[in-house]
Amino acid sequence: MNDILKAIKSRRSVRSFSDKQITDNELQAVLEAAQYAPTAGSQPWQFIAIQKEELINELSNASKEVAKNHEVEFIRKMANNKDFHAFYNAPTVILVCGDESLWTPADCAAATQNILLAAESLGLAACWINFGLFVFSSESGSTYNELLGIPEGYSPLYSVALGYRKGAVPAAAPRKKNVVTCIK
Ligand SMILES: Cc1cc2nc3c(=O)[nH]c(=O)nc-3n(C[C@H](O)[C@H](O)[C@H](O)COP(=O)(O)O)c2cc1C
Repeated sequence: MNDILKAIKSRRSVRSFSDKQITDNELQAVLEAAQYAPTAGSQPWQFIAIQKEELINELSNASKEVAKNHEVEFIRKMANNKDFHAFYNAPTVILVCGDESLWTPADCAAATQNILLAAESLGLAACWINFGLFVFSSESGSTYNELLGIPEGYSPLYSVALGYRKGAVPAAAPRKKNVVTCIK
C-alpha cells in the first residue's frame, strides 16, 4: 500500500491530547496542505489557527452553553457534562472559515480533510470538530468573529483539534457494507 493510502486508512479521530504544543513547522505544513485542497474555483477559505489555551477553553465553554438548548438530546447531554471539552484540550485548534459562495462548504470540507491527512502524515493527532462552533451560530457569534479576526463575509464552518496523541490509537469504527456500485 502506498503512503497516501496508508495515511487515509490509518487516520483516526483522536480525542486525547498531550499538553505539548506542535511545532511551527508542523502547523505551517498542515495549513499549507489545507490550501492545496480542490476548490470549485475561488479558494473561498480563511484559516484561523488558535494556540491560546484560554481562548480555546472560552470557545468550548461558550459553545457548550449554546448547545445546552440544542434540539438533539445527545448534544444537550454532552453540553451538560462538566468534564466535556469541545476540543478535548488540544493545544491547537484550526478554524476553517468560508465565504458565502455556492460551493464553499464542499471546498472547506476538502481543506479540512487535507488538514487531517497532513496531520496523520506528520504523526500528529487530530479530530474534526463541529461541536466547538455552536457559539458562532448564537448571538455572540459576531463578537467572536471580531475577536478572532475573521474577515467580513466569512464564518467558521468546520474546525480541527490538533496536537500530539495521549494514549493508544483509537480503533476504526466499522465501515458500512454495501455502499459501492460499480457500473462497467
Ligand atoms: C462534519 C463532521 C463533524 C464532526 N464533529 C465532531 C465533533 O464535534 N466532535 C467529535 O468528537 N468528533 C467529530 N467528528 C469526528 C467523527 O466523530 C469521526 O470522524 C467519526 O466517528 C469516524 O471516526 P474516524 O474519524 O476515526 O474514522 C466530526 C466529523 C465530521 C465529518
